[in-house]
Amino acid sequence: MSIDYTEKIPNNVDLAGDRKLQRALESWQPNFLTWWTTMGPALPTEDVYLRTAVDVGREGWAHFGHVAMEEYRWGVFLAERNADRRIAFGEQKGEPVWQQVPGEYRSDLQRLIVIQGDTEPASVEQQRRLGETAPSLYDLRNLFQVNVEEGRHLWAMVYLLHAYFGRNGREEAEALLHRNSGDLDSPRILGAFNEETPDWLSFFMFTYFTDRDGKYQLGTLKESAFDPLSRTCEFMLKEEAHHMFVGTTGVDRVVARSAELMLEHDTEEVGPHGGIPLDVIQRYINFHYSVSLDLFGSERSTNAANYFTAGLKGRWQEERRRDDHILTEDAAHVEVVRDGELATDEVSALLALNHDLRMEYVKDCQSGLKRWNRVLEKAGVDRRLYLPHVGFNRQVGVFSDHHVTPAGQVVGADAWEASRHKWLPTDADKAHVQSLMRPVYEPGKIASWIAPPINGINGKPFDYEYVHLP
Ligand SMILES: [Fe+2]
Ligand SMILES: [Fe+2]
Repeated sequence: MSIDYTEKIPNNVDLAGDRKLQRALESWQPNFLTWWTTMGPALPTEDVYLRTAVDVGREGWAHFGHVAMEEYRWGVFLAERNADRRIAFGEQKGEPVWQQVPGEYRSDLQRLIVIQGDTEPASVEQQRRLGETAPSLYDLRNLFQVNVEEGRHLWAMVYLLHAYFGRNGREEAEALLHRNSGDLDSPRILGAFNEETPDWLSFFMFTYFTDRDGKYQLGTLKESAFDPLSRTCEFMLKEEAHHMFVGTTGVDRVVARSAELMLEHDTEEVGPHGGIPLDVIQRYINFHYSVSLDLFGSERSTNAANYFTAGLKGRWQEERRRDDHILTEDAAHVEVVRDGELATDEVSALLALNHDLRMEYVKDCQSGLKRWNRVLEKAGVDRRLYLPHVGFNRQVGVFSDHHVTPAGQVVGADAWEASRHKWLPTDADKAHVQSLMRPVYEPGKIASWIAPPINGINGKPFDYEYVHLP
């Protein structure tokens, strides 16, 4: 299963054995490169210390080295095939998984792949200008690593579209390059992927909260009965772990620096001292968490139920669940707002699968908050950060018609408007964060608003020349 790098498109799917598919992907490749040059990282670089996949096996899959970014070897890598794999859930549970797309699920599967595929280049577009204000060469390198891998995830989805969905799939692959984040005429499909990522605090919040939604979506597709999709997602999840790491440790370091400045100057108002106040960090958490929750869709969803029953999309860690994996007899509880109060309703477990996934995600998000609060505690700061209520600031699902405070109280429109500046980033917050965004490109140096990392990348020190600028 090692990867063939002598090919124009590196791959471990024996692309050379299917000339027609190979030609189709080779004709998509220049369009991808044009997209990368026009919509990818804006900062010119000579080379960047990047990892490249060399094998999809458990050990030693990554190779590290300085490469010119436009020469990065994007390719098609699927996790190894398990010849005995069987469908783990739904009405065809126990039957062998599919190596081809069953006709009756063609349009649903294509839709799922297009939606996932659309998020990958979107985040590259959102982060396009961040290199111009990187707080250190270490951070700049991490940004570019995330960017090239999101580009590769686009390749992963485009491969599936080309290989299994015929002319329709090829047209969708083109459209993935034509929609752009924030574009008025042809925006990206999901709301959170049309928001700007204008500063590095937003970037760390995005990689913590929004990339983590990606992790959970990929986790459900990894369970799919359509085996090539499952294997693609399994390998993408390995790459995704680094994106999560960038977000988690990024926020760690911002919080650590703010705490340090608070103690040094004996004030919560660290803004004038070149830091980001905890109030502002909290409001950024509130924003990014709530828009990411919207990505899970409505709490009750017949689509989610149908995808599950058909075997297209499972639950998070489906095989570890102790139930019948069919769920026709099971019930679940979802939140509702009744007479202006929060309440719960019992519904069929099948209808509540989006809610089930969102609950797994929320649990995972809590781990970051614990970490960041430990940083505060260790520094001797009493303030704590928290996740707002799931109903706060929602545009999708049961809460979208209501105003819910971070503490979980349903309030009227006036009360919401009067307090929103306390809960969501204000123009002044954004302007302050923006004012701190000055590039630091000298090896071993770091911007005022963030602490240096504890470790470098791949055993290299923090002051390593991770990026060479022209
Ligand atoms: Fe991705
Ligand atoms: Fe990612």
